[in-house]
Amino acid sequence: MKLLLIAGAVIAALGAGSNHMSKDDRISAVAGYKQWEQATKGAVRMGPRLWTLCRHPTPAEQKALDDFNKNNPHSNGYFRVYMNDLARAPLMSGSPFPPGSTLVKEKMVGPDTGLIARTVMRKHEKGWNAKTDNWEFYVVTKDMQLEDTKDSNCISCHSSKSKMNWVYRTYVSSRAKH
Ligand code: HEC
Repeated sequence: MKLLLIAGAVIAALGAGSNHMSKDDRISAVAGYKQWEQATKGAVRMGPRLWTLCRHPTPAEQKALDDFNKNNPHSNGYFRVYMNDLARAPLMSGSPFPPGSTLVKEKMVGPDTGLIARTVMRKHEKGWNAKTDNWEFYVVTKDMQLEDTKDSNCISCHSSKSKMNWVYRTYVSSRAKH
């Protein structure tokens, strides 16, 4: 019986495979992101529909947003994008990203208030997941915890940018102008 349990644990560990990094790994990959360079120039406003789609807000977050919007009728939510060193040149120039490239998009209620969550894209080695061109998508909560979110939503949007290395980069050109 004991042997069976051990065998089961080994199989489970093998089954997890390289496709799914441990939770700690995903958090540690972004632990110091606040020190990374920002790809956005300041906080960028985003449209309300997109804001809710990129990751559905929880009821509490929606309430915070509604409360904020009551006082700021023209606010639709804001974002900032941070890039690690590996991601910097590719994101700025629109070229392919090397493994280890990591992007963090902060979603906020106001320009500098009400952080809602962080959506993360992390590029893995070739063979990690051909369907996403080896990009991993996940959400990190306000408290730096991994959120239990399916990545199918993320992939459905970002795959439309597959010819552009899966990133939108909508904010890059406005950054250059400043
Ligand atoms: C409705 C379409 C949509 C969905 C769904 C979506 N995104 Fe995005 N994402 C965008 C757009 C558009 C941008 C460009 C910035 C902006 O305008 O908000 C973006 C930007 C990003 C960026 C910055 C890199 C870039 O592409 O420029 C990251 C990181 C990111 N998204 C992660 C995620 C993750 C993780 C998920 C799933 C939890 C997700 N996104 C779901 C549309 C989407």
